[in-house]
Amino acid sequence: MTAGTHRPLLETVLGQRQSRPPIWIMRQAGRYLPEYRETRTRARNFLDLCYTPELATEVTLQPLRRFDLDAAILFSDILVIPDALGQSVRFATGEGPLLDPLDEKGIDALDRGRAMTHLAPVLETVRRLRAELPAEKTLIGFCGAPWTVATYMLGGRGSADQWTARRFALEHPEAFERLIDILVDTSIDYLVAQFEAGADVVQVFESWALNLDDAAFNRQVIDPNRRIVEGVRARVPDAPIIGFPRGAAGNLKRYAQATGVNVLGIDFATPLAFVNDHLPPELPVQGNLDPLRLVVGGEAMDSQVRAILAAFAHRPHIFNLGHGIVPETPIAHVERLIELVKGA
Ligand code: CP3
Repeated sequence: MTAGTHRPLLETVLGQRQSRPPIWIMRQAGRYLPEYRETRTRARNFLDLCYTPELATEVTLQPLRRFDLDAAILFSDILVIPDALGQSVRFATGEGPLLDPLDEKGIDALDRGRAMTHLAPVLETVRRLRAELPAEKTLIGFCGAPWTVATYMLGGRGSADQWTARRFALEHPEAFERLIDILVDTSIDYLVAQFEAGADVVQVFESWALNLDDAAFNRQVIDPNRRIVEGVRARVPDAPIIGFPRGAAGNLKRYAQATGVNVLGIDFATPLAFVNDHLPPELPVQGNLDPLRLVVGGEAMDSQVRAILAAFAHRPHIFNLGHGIVPETPIAHVERLIELVKGA
């Protein structure tokens, strides 16, 4: 690390507000970029893309060649964890991820012993990225939070209400705890390894922090996220961590306090005033433009970008979308977004 290098995104994560908010975009490497679609054809399938350091490094860097972004996010997926534990994971075109759903026996057959060996190529990608990126660009590593990953492992696919996983958690509490324990321990090892390989910050994606009552939110979201933050920091002191509990709504404050994340990712349905009224003014926040506004552009986008910048003008803020960028997004709108944020 070069002494004196200005690293706007990392500094914001650590609580220092910048004159202009740094920006990155969730899923910034992806199908809206023609160069991503081209590189994707060179891998046999999506997971091979994640496990081929040469291709994964290339794809991670593509958005930074085009846009003035402040961070690169490791190109991988949250579902490399079930794959590394020995569950079958496939990505069917147009259908999203498909897994062989786990039952109690399947949980006991998961093999934590093989996980880190399986994930070695992803860590090689992190090393290559840190070597290639200039010091002022923050390298973000990530994992899925245990509950979110468990919804795919138990349900076998994405679903609007996570019914299968929520039901399993209530009907088979002990097997469910065993699954969460495996995911917590594997995620800690994986995030620590990402820091050791050169990640500056990690984000924990809790994409399904919704549809949970108080007790389920505590058990399925807060407790595992807190254990990951504590477990990582026991081995990487002061490790900077962004938590993104999508859909947490009224639970946002409790999530931030109980987990101890440095930055709270805010989804686009969370009112800006709610954030300022309920979260400590020194707590850094990340977000939260609706990805659909980036698709439509024009005044529909510009007006809300200005509203977000104004609402978070007095606290540490990382500009981002409130969920991942979608494939139909015009590149010109991304350019305009960055111009607006950087010129704010
Ligand atoms: O942000 C980045 O650029 C880094 C790479 C990244 C991907 N997925 C690449 C990807 C990250 C951080 C993720 C996280 C992820 N993956 C989440 C959490 C964030 C969120 O969106 O809620 C989840 C739930 C997944 C699981 C997953 N992976 C789904 C549901 C899908 C299918 C949906 C889709 O967009 O097609 C994927 C596939 C996936 N992961 C793609 C990419 C670029 C598209 C696959 C392709 O190229 O065919």
